[in-house]
Amino acid sequence: MKNIFDFFKAKEEKRKITMISTYEYWSAKICEEAGIDCILVGDSVGMVDGGLKTTLPVKLEEMIYHGRAVRRGAPNTFITVDMPFMSYQVSTEKALENAGKIMKETCCNAVKLEGGEEIAKTIEKIVSAGIPVMGHVGLTPQSVHALGGYKVQGKTKEEQKRIIKDAKIIEQAGAFAIVLEAIPSDLAEEITEFLDIPTIGIGAGNKTDGQVLVFHDMMGFFDKTPKFVKKYVEGKKLFIEALTQFKKETQSGVFPGEEHTYQ
Ligand code: KIV
Repeated sequence: MKNIFDFFKAKEEKRKITMISTYEYWSAKICEEAGIDCILVGDSVGMVDGGLKTTLPVKLEEMIYHGRAVRRGAPNTFITVDMPFMSYQVSTEKALENAGKIMKETCCNAVKLEGGEEIAKTIEKIVSAGIPVMGHVGLTPQSVHALGGYKVQGKTKEEQKRIIKDAKIIEQAGAFAIVLEAIPSDLAEEITEFLDIPTIGIGAGNKTDGQVLVFHDMMGFFDKTPKFVKKYVEGKKLFIEALTQFKKETQSGVFPGEEHTYQ
């Protein structure tokens, strides 16, 4: 993906979009080499890299630091950076200022905001300044306390109506794509059908226009992951094997060998 029009084209042509949430130079480099369509510098960085319980404490400066690292690792990939909690909720002016700061300092292509109707005006304001916005509805982790935990959303008719309404409003406000997180597959399919912009699902079944996973989850670095995570590699196991071998070889004097030694 070079720009937002490639997202629209992918939906039109029914080509599924791949997005990976990641935060480092090295993992971004791997994503670009693998041909991933879009990298999301997610505020999940606080939990995945920082060991936090929620994404709430993540700061704007931290998102910028990671955004810059990811841009260096993936100079040719479409990059979206999450706006962290309280960087866009206070006022539309403050939100625009912070979105602008992210764009200027990370050289990313877009920002992502969580929420529905309540942030429509904010999205309009940011989009009208020429900054592409990706929406995010369903399970919105920045509202974890209001939602009562990390739970599947849209289980009742009421909730479904609200999520559908929110998705429509986000599209009307000018978002170019929208993340659907942890909602039933049927609901995600319905939203995907009536929206013109692409939907990118995580825990939303396989009828969305694209899929997003967190790099560290899919690479198998964690024992406990949500149901929707598929581990494509047993990363933790491989790393432990490598570290154990390093320890063994260091202790026995096998490492470093001739080939790793300057004469
Ligand atoms: O923060 C993040 O990584 C995200 C994705 C899970 C969509 O928002």
